[in-house]
Amino acid sequence: MAHLSICLAFCLLLLEVVLAASRTSPPAGALVVRARTSNSGEFSTVSAAVASLPNDSSARTIFIYPGTYNEQVFITRSGPLTIYGYTTDTSTYRNNQVNIQAGVPASQAGSNDASGTLRVHKDNFKLYNVNVKNTFGQGSQAIAISQYGSRVGLYACGFYGYQDTLYANEGTQVYLRGYIEGAVDFIFGRHGSAYYGGNTIAIKGAGWVTASGRESDDGGSYVFNQNTITIASGASGESGKVYFGRPWGNYAKVIFKNTIVEAPFNKALWSEWNDGDARTDHVFVADYNSSGSGVSGASRPSWVAQLSSSQANQYSISSAVGSDYASWVDMNYFV
Ligand SMILES: *[C@@H]1O[C@H](CO)[C@@H](O)[C@H](O)[C@H]1NC(C)=O
Ligand SMILES: *[C@@H]1O[C@H](CO)[C@@H](O)[C@H](O)[C@H]1NC(C)=O
Repeated sequence: MAHLSICLAFCLLLLEVVLAASRTSPPAGALVVRARTSNSGEFSTVSAAVASLPNDSSARTIFIYPGTYNEQVFITRSGPLTIYGYTTDTSTYRNNQVNIQAGVPASQAGSNDASGTLRVHKDNFKLYNVNVKNTFGQGSQAIAISQYGSRVGLYACGFYGYQDTLYANEGTQVYLRGYIEGAVDFIFGRHGSAYYGGNTIAIKGAGWVTASGRESDDGGSYVFNQNTITIASGASGESGKVYFGRPWGNYAKVIFKNTIVEAPFNKALWSEWNDGDARTDHVFVADYNSSGSGVSGASRPSWVAQLSSSQANQYSISSAVGSDYASWVDMNYFV
């Protein structure tokens, strides 16, 4: 019996290894980025590869070999673009070996967008298995990804920062099976329409996971489904000092469904913007079917919506980014 179960465990492991697809060489036609390369036809920075692309409607691909790329990358070309990072397992961020990083704070750059390590100002963009980091740390807004495009998919990517890591400011976008780390208002933006599925969201310090800056009753919202909120490695957990969010704009719209919360949240789960500046008069924020030790004994403020299961069903990838989502989202990553 013991032998059988050991064998079974081994076979399952083998099966997982076989199923884990790797992407360790460039797809046909891709531009190649390789740290410190001197090979002709290759690029040593992501920015140089992006700059070499024609600004036309053609679809282009870039493949990045393992390494740390110290640069800010600003993408504006009009045609579709897909960037792949080298990985031995495309299904997860855990094996990512490509890091794009910079440490520019908004206080120096002049705006949130200008501080972004990766600035996506184009439609029809896909990024796979790449970590994007703003290493500035505490003391200013310091954006890892600044996202302005529509039909943008970020798959098994890691986004690292402290304050304002992920700026979903405009356009329609999905973040699937990735990793998002920060402390203060670290998933935020004004007009973005975003869906977040199957991510690990890691808490670096006291603060708010989201700060929706929605200022009117427009079509934007942030919908989360089946994410896990945990404590980032090396962080203390900040018991009672972490929340699902606070409203940057007083039409904030954020729905968390089926979240496992391991980080020890404040019992209220949601907070006002600031003492004396609540910004809660037109908000629509809710968490539905939250579970885990971090939400035990929760007591939500009256301005947090309580959803029935049929109401919760109305908030989905379709409500967040449009009913045509399957035409541009890589459904292999859908959660
Ligand atoms: C590409 O064209 C778009 C749209 O015309 C423009 O906004 C953008 O600045 C251009 N980018 C580059 C790199 O020339
Ligand atoms: C509640 O969320 C958990 C975690 O995502 C999930 O496993 C479970 O199926 C959900 N329950 C319902 C009723 O949707």
